Amino acid sequence: MTHTLKTWQKPSITPHQLGTLNKFGRPVGGDYVEKIDGVAVDDLLRDYGSPLFVLSEKRLRDNIRQLKRAFESRYQPVIHAWSYKTNYLNAVCATLHQEGSWAEVVSAFEYEKARALGVPASRILFNGPHKKRAILERCVKEGARIHIDNLDELYLLDAIARELDIFTSVTIRLNFETGYTEAWSRFGFNLESGAAFDAAIRIGNSSHLKLRGLHSHVGTFILDTRAYQVEVEKLCDFMELIEQQAHALIDSLDIGGGFASQNAVQGLYLPTEQVVPTMSQYADAICSTLITKTAQREAQGKPRLTLILESGRAVVDDAEVLISSVVGSKRLPDGRASYIMDAGVNLLFTAFWYNHKVKPTRSLQGIAEETVLYGPLCMNIDIVRQSISLPPLSVGDSLVISPVGAYNNTQWLQFIEYRPAIVMVHENGEVSVIRRAENLADINSFESLPDHLNGQFNFSE
Ligand SMILES: Cc1ncc(COP(=O)(O)O)c(C=O)c1O
Repeated sequence: MTHTLKTWQKPSITPHQLGTLNKFGRPVGGDYVEKIDGVAVDDLLRDYGSPLFVLSEKRLRDNIRQLKRAFESRYQPVIHAWSYKTNYLNAVCATLHQEGSWAEVVSAFEYEKARALGVPASRILFNGPHKKRAILERCVKEGARIHIDNLDELYLLDAIARELDIFTSVTIRLNFETGYTEAWSRFGFNLESGAAFDAAIRIGNSSHLKLRGLHSHVGTFILDTRAYQVEVEKLCDFMELIEQQAHALIDSLDIGGGFASQNAVQGLYLPTEQVVPTMSQYADAICSTLITKTAQREAQGKPRLTLILESGRAVVDDAEVLISSVVGSKRLPDGRASYIMDAGVNLLFTAFWYNHKVKPTRSLQGIAEETVLYGPLCMNIDIVRQSISLPPLSVGDSLVISPVGAYNNTQWLQFIEYRPAIVMVHENGEVSVIRRAENLADINSFESLPDHLNGQFNFSE
């Protein structure tokens, strides 16, 4: 007797699609976005082309104000340091610096960008695992706060501070288990192994380095506020230990970023509104723990700690959308509708882990059906949405994809296509180009062609 084994298939669970038949019939028309902050999408596409990124200055300012209000109404002083890697468009950084945010940078490039924009070094926090001597020297001379990542960096920084004879206040980055997040043990000094204590002792023995800050960033898109309670508890306990044993007097606790935005992470069953904590819930968890943990310290007359936040995605994600147009349609062999869009994962890196909202710019007629949205790249994984319920679209129809403000304009690829323009809609309704579209001259400007390769191409007749 022969047995034929069934092919194993990965089990999956998917929420019901909106827009398909239900007891009330099928919805028609549906939700659509005609304007962004009062400016017609059609006008934006006419003036700046498709695809197009559109930033809302108002939303960005509202978001950062809401974050600051949530924290400052519970604890003071609070500093927000803008995480450049999340979105380092000058217009975004400048808006946030106008709102009082400092800069949080992780490379020589980001440091130079912040300085060129006019941020004083004393308002820059320098994180990250890669800092070469030249940039460390510049930071020491200019007085930026360096967050030390590893022992080699610690020794190098100590040597630089001694050579320059500059007393340098530093922060160390810590990593540890919270029980609610995956431990990012590759960044900073581990608490449980004793590496963090060892680093604090070494700084305590330095003639030129002064340990003033503790930092950790326990993950991103953190949905459980208890992770932050544990983080603050661990930072405070460690602070007590090193203040007693390592000649440190800590002035600030930097809890990193990680607050979730209203974006739908793939694989998350419930809608984001039900799972993403509000800014008040994050602030409650963090500030109440901090107040409790530092009460005794303050009673002893020690100075109040500054709470530093490096929130990135929660501040910028929903302040930006991507408008993309349909350039072709195709019925797939399995019956699904599919469309080719002029923007794909080259512009929307976050499509790999989010199910972005996709809304048409007019009321669509017809029956919604399961649809795949492809990008323009010759690459099988160039998918904007794997499965979305949409009525039929035509070539030239545009779709508004959101939220896209976090990590797309920094992680995008100049791959196959030019990168398009980015505009900002200001609070008075005016629109500015904050990054123009790329062209061939831009891209060729990085290259040089050796003389013997210039021309004389040998094509057969
Ligand atoms: C050190 C540090 N701070 C802040 C952030 C911003 O994180 P988020 O966008 O999750 O708030 C990151 C992101 O990776 C980070 O590495």
